[in-house]
Amino acid sequence: MTKARTALVIGSGVAGLVAAVRASTTHQVTLITKTALGEGASIYAQGGIAAALFNGDSARIHADDTVRIGGGLNSRRAVDILCTEGPMRVRDLIDLGVAFDRDGGELARGLEAAHSRDRIVHAGGDRTGAEVQAVLVAAARKSRVQILEHVFVEELIIDANRVVGAVLMYPNGIVESLEADAVVLATGGGGQLYPHTSNPAVSTGDGVALALRAGAALRDLEFYQFHPTTLAMPGNFLISEAVRGEGAVLVDSSGHRFMTDEHPDAELAPRDIVARGIARRTAAQGGAAVLLDATALGAAFLKRRFPGITAATAHLGLDWLNNPIPVTPAAHYWMGGVRTDEWGRTSIPGLFAVGEVASTGVHGANRLASNSLLEGLVFGWRCVDALAEPWPDDAEPALGAIAEEPQVDPSEPVDRASLQSLMWSTAGLFRDEKSLTEAATQLARWYVAAPPASATSIAAVAAAETRNLLDLARVIVASARMRRESRGAHFRSDFPHADPTFARHADLARKAVTKC
Ligand code: SIN
Repeated sequence: MTKARTALVIGSGVAGLVAAVRASTTHQVTLITKTALGEGASIYAQGGIAAALFNGDSARIHADDTVRIGGGLNSRRAVDILCTEGPMRVRDLIDLGVAFDRDGGELARGLEAAHSRDRIVHAGGDRTGAEVQAVLVAAARKSRVQILEHVFVEELIIDANRVVGAVLMYPNGIVESLEADAVVLATGGGGQLYPHTSNPAVSTGDGVALALRAGAALRDLEFYQFHPTTLAMPGNFLISEAVRGEGAVLVDSSGHRFMTDEHPDAELAPRDIVARGIARRTAAQGGAAVLLDATALGAAFLKRRFPGITAATAHLGLDWLNNPIPVTPAAHYWMGGVRTDEWGRTSIPGLFAVGEVASTGVHGANRLASNSLLEGLVFGWRCVDALAEPWPDDAEPALGAIAEEPQVDPSEPVDRASLQSLMWSTAGLFRDEKSLTEAATQLARWYVAAPPASATSIAAVAAAETRNLLDLARVIVASARMRRESRGAHFRSDFPHADPTFARHADLARKAVTKC
């Protein structure tokens, strides 16, 4: 009897669940998640899923919108795949039981910034991620997938330049290696790099850090998207762009609708423009938050269309039905990550990456709203077709440490809050040479210090996550220093315009992370 092929899927958001469930028909699959199944950023996705499902729209128009916003760095081939296969993956979800919202029997559709068509399908009003995730979790539980919850992946195991498994830490502190024919990273993003983020606590960039240490090629690391409107309160609860899509406006402390001064599309300008507009206006009014006013939409509509936001704001003591609410930008989505081809294949044979951990090239320098669940669905599905295929020979050379490492002495142990605060002030919405140099120097000082010893597995996981964040901060800062221009979400105050020299994928991550 031939031995069944094995696959490890690391991460249990939408991309990981789709990959695991589909792969379980051909592989013996183990799905590993560091928390409970289904936790992660996917469940917080409010706006919905963008897909060309309606008359008057097409995959080409959706792809054109995606590329227009991506600052010239998208891979058109990957974008075409995303937009062509997206509608099929949404129909799969409907078949699986996701109850997308309907309007007179037809799928309801929303609008978000920079879309030229209303094409965002949503479920539970503003609970799309949670609704989709619940259905996929149920499918995973019914499938043959072996599920390991509360298990942390410490390292990938590489042998002869091929991934052959992973080192796992169990809740009881036991560390064990698990072999596999293929490993799929689906660990999501790294919002915890910043103190203000719409991402949950688990978003510590683990998959990108694992791939970095294993020597995989990374890409577009300097492009971190800041969502314009999260509540300007601890926790930064997301206020969906769909709220502005329905007509809510942003006003400053004198009641002026300031985004009309910044861009013809005002509140529905590309996310980076709205986020920087809000940040500048907040600074100009001495730090007082700007306000999002949705009251003109009417209480009945807001309650029906945005039940999650209505409940969350009420819980926090805000009455958004009748009053404007304070908002601020927060780290939301990392366009960069582990470089993949259109099958999710990384530069290391056997290693795949899907969802936010990956850089498929679909987002370029800036992600179009509601393309992220879509990316997880499409590429989570596609990678399964390549799981058992021979690896193409164009693998990148293995990579190692960071170029231009500042020489520092003495070293200091890192703590997560200091790291986040440094990233916010030096490599956040606005960066320049001075701030990035300061960041690189401090990060190097932290990097040379030994990671703190941990007495328990919980503390060990927290320390390992912080170490991952530190590794990632270094490559983000190194990439941001090299990109001496502004493009998409990467805004350099000292180089405020796009420079055609950087128009193509300059592949700065490759230069930022060089062989030791
Ligand atoms: C939102 O609902 O504003 C977030 C959607 C997204 O990031 O695509």
